[in-house]
Amino acid sequence: MKPSFLFVSTAAAALLTAAAFIVTTAAQVPQGVQDVTSNPPPQPRTFPAPTNLKVLPRELTGEQVHHLMEQWTASLGTHCNSCHAEDRENIGPDGRPLLNFAADSKPMKAVARTMFTMTEEINTKYVASIDNSGVPVTCGTCHRGHLGPEPFVTAPDKRASSPQVQSPSSDSSTSHEENANR
Ligand code: HEC
Ligand code: HEC
Repeated sequence: MKPSFLFVSTAAAALLTAAAFIVTTAAQVPQGVQDVTSNPPPQPRTFPAPTNLKVLPRELTGEQVHHLMEQWTASLGTHCNSCHAEDRENIGPDGRPLLNFAADSKPMKAVARTMFTMTEEINTKYVASIDNSGVPVTCGTCHRGHLGPEPFVTAPDKRASSPQVQSPSSDSSTSHEENANR
């Protein structure tokens, strides 16, 4: 008797919890609806079909290209106008020129094409040849949110018994770099 009573009460408790959850969820719905009406969603954006793809697959839709561009922009920690030139004859609603995405006048766009081709080649020619490799190289692998990838600096070697031994060599490499930059 006792075990079955225990079961029933557990089931009842579970049911109550579920009911409480439903009530809570239901109570939240009107609030969500209110948020939407007081904050209308932005106009759905349209993405025109690309007209000047030279390295990306030509069959990509405007939306797919846009999505990729947002990834590149984030991976490089930059903005669309790093690679895309302003169109002075096409002024946007904010009074500033819109970007002409198809134009090739910015040299950085050409660099990005080279970078894309390089990345594709790294993946298809080399990474793909490694057994079970599921980690393709992307723009972010090297750029990590910076337009110019930052040099990798190794952490100071904790096993080094005397740090003084290391400082002269690192000092000289710094001054060497400074000289090279002048
Ligand atoms: C790092 C450089 C770079 C950045 C940043 C960048 N783009 Fe691009 N974008 C390119 C390159 C290169 C192409 C051409 C690809 C090709 O030739 O296949 C291109 C092509 C495009 C196209 C297609 C144009 C056409 O008609 O052929 C659109 C649209 C576009 N970019 C939008 C954007 C938007 C929006 C952003 C910002 C969110 C952006 N891009 C940021 C490099 C960049
Ligand atoms: C294997 C590493 C690596 C990958 C992957 C990579 N890049 Fe680069 N990228 C570099 C290095 C290194 C430089 C700096 C070259 C220099 O300035 O001497 C660079 C420079 C650039 C520049 C020029 C920046 C400037 O200030 O002139 C752009 C734009 C760029 N990369 C875009 C891309 C895009 C877009 C991708 C992905 C499609 C990509 N890169 C993938 C290593 C990489």
